[in-house]
Amino acid sequence: MQEVRYASMLKSSNVFYGWIVVSISTLVFAIVRGVNDAFSVFFVALLEEFGWSRAAVAGVDVVTAQGTEAGGHTGLVSTLPLVPAVVDAVAPVPVIAAGGIADGRGIAAALMLGAEGVWIGTRFLATRECGVSDAYKARVVAATGDDTVLTDVFDIAGGMPWPDGVSGRAIRNRFSERWERREEELRTWAIEHGDEYRSLGPDAEIAEKAVWAGEAASFVTGVESAADVVRGLVADAAGVLTARPQAVLRDR
Ligand SMILES: Cc1cc2nc3c(=O)[nH]c(=O)nc-3n(C[C@H](O)[C@H](O)[C@H](O)COP(=O)(O)O)c2cc1C
Repeated sequence: MQEVRYASMLKSSNVFYGWIVVSISTLVFAIVRGVNDAFSVFFVALLEEFGWSRAAVAGVDVVTAQGTEAGGHTGLVSTLPLVPAVVDAVAPVPVIAAGGIADGRGIAAALMLGAEGVWIGTRFLATRECGVSDAYKARVVAATGDDTVLTDVFDIAGGMPWPDGVSGRAIRNRFSERWERREEELRTWAIEHGDEYRSLGPDAEIAEKAVWAGEAASFVTGVESAADVVRGLVADAAGVLTARPQAVLRDR
């Protein structure tokens, strides 16, 4: 029996999506590590403010180190420097790398940084199983990492501000373009228009609401099944891990 406890940091509307992420992440984790037996995993989405050493001493089984490239709420440090720093800080607690990982090369790189597995969100947004709308999936498919922005505007407008240092990465849209760098003004606007904003219908979803997605949107090129994505990720990672070291070290 696998038991996965999930420290969710987002609103209840994302719980369905959150559980898809947890299930898939657990599967990737199990495949990458070859874990067949019962295990208990406590995933903590790690943000600087929450302090990874606190997570380690709290007796968690696994720490997720998530870089700023990630979709949704995250901190400012990139995955490349963050993961090895967390690996060192929480050893011997195993670390799962997150943020910007979307193909076999990313998985292989994360393992080289000392992570024991990967936690992937954005790459699964355009899967058939994901609970977001078709318009949301199409927007993620059309976007590249360049189209994303780390911003507070959606949290302010939604009336759910996050702690300093934690912002949300989403695809730029009309709303973010309108309010970016005008946060103080937006706070005032939200007092009067917050309810109206929160009750906007599906027509306004892509232009006005948060389309949470990370820089890995560059790797989302079509709608696939989650199973196909997982199979592709694992096969590609195995290929890279087998061939690349030999190619790099061949002439030494
Ligand atoms: C649409 C969306 C919703 C998310 N919801 C949650 C959530 O409810 N709780 C959470 O801890 N992380 C949430 N995340 C973050 C993901 O679980 C994951 O850590 C992140 O997507 C990994 O980075 P990546 O997007 O670069 O793959 C969400 C991410 C996205 C894109």
